[in-house]
Amino acid sequence: MIENFRRLYGSADGLRIWRAPGRVNLIGEHTDYNLGFVLPLALDLAAYVAAAPSRDGRLHIRSEHRAELFECPAGEIAALEPRRQWTDYPLGVARELVRAGFPIQPANLLIRSTVPEGSGLSSSAALEVSSALAFLNGRTLEPLVLARLCQRAEREFAGMPCGIMDQYIAVYGRAGSAVEIDCRSLEHRLVALPAGIAFLAVNTMVKHALAASAYQERVAECAAAVERIRTRLPRVESLRDVSPAQLASVAPLLSGVAARRARHVVTENARVAAFVDASARGDLGRMGRLLVESHHSLRDDYQVSCPELDFLVDAALAVDGVFGARMTGGGFGGCTVTMLRPGAIPQFGERIARGYARRFHVTPAIYPCRPSAGAGEVKNCETIPSAV
Ligand code: GLA
Repeated sequence: MIENFRRLYGSADGLRIWRAPGRVNLIGEHTDYNLGFVLPLALDLAAYVAAAPSRDGRLHIRSEHRAELFECPAGEIAALEPRRQWTDYPLGVARELVRAGFPIQPANLLIRSTVPEGSGLSSSAALEVSSALAFLNGRTLEPLVLARLCQRAEREFAGMPCGIMDQYIAVYGRAGSAVEIDCRSLEHRLVALPAGIAFLAVNTMVKHALAASAYQERVAECAAAVERIRTRLPRVESLRDVSPAQLASVAPLLSGVAARRARHVVTENARVAAFVDASARGDLGRMGRLLVESHHSLRDDYQVSCPELDFLVDAALAVDGVFGARMTGGGFGGCTVTMLRPGAIPQFGERIARGYARRFHVTPAIYPCRPSAGAGEVKNCETIPSAV
């Protein structure tokens, strides 16, 4: 990557490299913007941003994965409009940093990412957080301020009304642990996973066009359900506040669709707590069943699954040594996450790849989910994986 940098920019003087991971969410889907609970882990797939001061007063951004180059005077960055392309992630972050009192210095940036785009493994948050660190170039920002600033960039500049999960885990990920996040208090606790299991993400290799609009629709549907519920339970501020018993009592107020969306969120929050509890007790069977219940709720009540995801979940459940599987991330394509015995991995990979290719004519990529560290500077001794 340093060689590439030198070739593209002529010099690598003052170069520093920053990394931020993608994530897989084990359970707690579409709960973050309802101020509920999520349980992601940071992956060893990550975005890397190499940055060095430039001498021409300008900001230059290149990616190893794209031909086009972005450049503009560093002082003009905050006035830019979104362009509806990948540069919106670093540029949105740059604008938020300027607003937060951190001027952008003239610099050359080179991006590499091993988080597959469109996979639902949060390549955009990885790019946002690693870019933020590169722009900061050693200036410090509270971790929570950093995560929220990157979320704001995604919401306001990239135009995706996301919750906090992806940026939070990119910042707070920890090697060896999943992280249970309370999306209201924005506190978290580390969750050690039991021995004797592994998680694999399986990529459908599709991202259906309606993913973005359906996401916005779900956010709006949840807000509308809260408005209705408040007419009876005025203290409710988000679906996080609604217990299963309360939901039953207000069900007659809600339309069929609103009731299903709310039921998913309310039951999914309960499943996160149950999963963490089962994990602490080493109850692998219960953990697996909760994953499958989560998938069914996302498929039937929240309606964000698709045939490819459903196929991968059903196919996984037919393999010996698999405890459970579900879609992960926003849905409408992207990845599933499967919990299985490590010894079952070779057979699983083979059977899933063969079955999926026969049905959908594309080979699914499979990624081991190794809980990894959150964002930071890449040290001299670390290797940067080659680009995918
Ligand atoms: C996307 C969003 C997250 C979260 C998930 C669904 O990844 O960026 O904030 O809402 O979808 O759980």
